[in-house]
Amino acid sequence: MRSQFVCAALFFFCGFSAWLPNALATPDPDIPLPISKSDALMLHIPTDIENGARIFAGCVGCHDSGPSALNRVGPILNDIIGRKAGSIEGYDYSKALVRAGKNGLVWTPYKLDAFLMSPNDFLGGNKMPFVGLKDERERRDLIGYLKTLK
Ligand code: HEC
Repeated sequence: MRSQFVCAALFFFCGFSAWLPNALATPDPDIPLPISKSDALMLHIPTDIENGARIFAGCVGCHDSGPSALNRVGPILNDIIGRKAGSIEGYDYSKALVRAGKNGLVWTPYKLDAFLMSPNDFLGGNKMPFVGLKDERERRDLIGYLKTLK
C-alpha cells in the first residue's frame, strides 16, 4: 500500500517536473519577451477561445478591435498582449495608466489576468469603469481570445 503511494507520488512529481521546465522554455513566439514564469505557465493552459469571444461581448461597448479599429470610450485592444500599458497614440489615458506604462507595465497574460480580475485593485486611479471578472476560467478564455485580436 505504502509503496504504491510512494510510486504514485514519484510518478506525479517526475511527470510534473518534466513538464515544468519545458513549459518555461517554450514561451509563445507571438509574445515579446521578457515574460515572467507565471506568464509562461499561463500561456500553456488551454483556453476556450470561443467562450472568450462570448465574454468579450462585455468589452465591445468600450473597446474596438480589428484592422479598422478606432478608439472608443476605451483604447483599441489589437495586439494587447505584449503591449506597453497606456501606449495607443491619440487615446486619452488616465495619468495612472500612462505612469504605469512608463514604469514598465507591459500587458502580459499574467498582468492582464490581475487587471481584469479587478481593475481598481490592480491599478488605483485608472479610469476603466469595469468591476472585473471574478471567474478565473472566464479570464483565461478571454485572454486566449484577446491574443487573436489584430
Ligand atoms: C465601460 C467601458 C469599458 C468596459 C466595459 C471595458 N473597458 Fe477596458 N478600458 C476602458 C477605459 C476607459 C480604459 C482606459 C483606462 C485608463 O486610461 O486608465 C480601458 C483600458 C483597458 C486596457 C488597457 C489598455 C492599454 O492600452 O493600456 C485593457 C487591457 C482593457 N481595458 C481591457 C478590457 C477588457 C478585456 C474588457 C472586457 C472584459 C474591458 N476592458 C471592458 C473602458 C472599458
